[in-house]
Amino acid sequence: MELRPMIQTAQALVAPGKGILAADESTPTMAKRLAAIGVESTEPRRRTYRELLFTTPGIGDFISGVILFDETIRQQTVDGTRFPEVLRRHGVIPGIKVDAGTKPLAGFPGEVVTAGLDGLRERLQEYAAMGARFAKWRAVIHIGEDRPTATCVEANAHALARYAALAQEAGLVPIVEPEVLMDGTHGLERCAVVTVDVLRAVYAQLARHRVVLEASLLKPNMVLPGEDSPVRAGDEEVAEATVMALREVVPAAVPGIVFLSGGQSDQEATARLDAINRLAPQPWELSFSFGRALQAPVLRAWSGEDANTGAAQAALLHRAELNGAARRGAYRAELEELAVDPPATS
Ligand code: 13P
Repeated sequence: MELRPMIQTAQALVAPGKGILAADESTPTMAKRLAAIGVESTEPRRRTYRELLFTTPGIGDFISGVILFDETIRQQTVDGTRFPEVLRRHGVIPGIKVDAGTKPLAGFPGEVVTAGLDGLRERLQEYAAMGARFAKWRAVIHIGEDRPTATCVEANAHALARYAALAQEAGLVPIVEPEVLMDGTHGLERCAVVTVDVLRAVYAQLARHRVVLEASLLKPNMVLPGEDSPVRAGDEEVAEATVMALREVVPAAVPGIVFLSGGQSDQEATARLDAINRLAPQPWELSFSFGRALQAPVLRAWSGEDANTGAAQAALLHRAELNGAARRGAYRAELEELAVDPPATS
């Protein structure tokens, strides 16, 4: 296992002012995203949309890496250039989602464990040969009455560590993603406690599986009140609770922490990332690996119309730039007003 290139990749993914675009929606998830803008999900439509994202002029100024899905890493632009190569030419590092989604955890109603370890070694080798330089595996933890159970947390932490060790064996930087969902009525404090418990279990398993932390990244949730909690939290409160939880558990050897957006609006996710970075200095880079919070305005602007490609790309670049500013604690809500309005569709 050659560590140096992986360590360099991990550091490049969290380079100052840049973050990751998660464009690894599985086919059913992509169908939902497209249905929301009235577009039928076909392979050519998904390809067209992803080509729009990856060929955005200037994308490499604010986006360090893109996470692809199995279908996407095999696709090409209309002129026949494979997507990983398109990204590489823009100075963007291609990555790949390698988990197979969640399955019910037997014996634990309402809890899930992430599948995908079978055959993973061979798939990682194939993805590395196709140009992927990092990987992602997402574990999902629900908060509820008597949830999460210790068994669920351990099973997911163990799978994350098995995956991370295999990714490094194949020369790919593992992004370790234990997502504590924001669904529920719980308060911010409960999310903080669960997040710390989950991260403790994850870092214990990563150590046991000899994962080299310098060649890995963490992709956690921000510490937030449940979506249906009667009590809302301000951006500073979220930032302080998030940083406190991470400082408690995440070793300083980890080069960067790249937050998921998890259903927050694009503006909320950016404002909170900004508030988090205002609490600098921290032992790690604090960046983004947003899916919905980067793509929501792009999908709206595109609406499935080729004529809107330029407006959609402008929306992506604008959102990426604002998140780049949030990396430095330099975001201001006034910058939103410079946003590209989606063109009116008939
Ligand atoms: P969201 O930012 O939409 O949560 O997606 C990030 C991601 O990759 C989830 O696995």
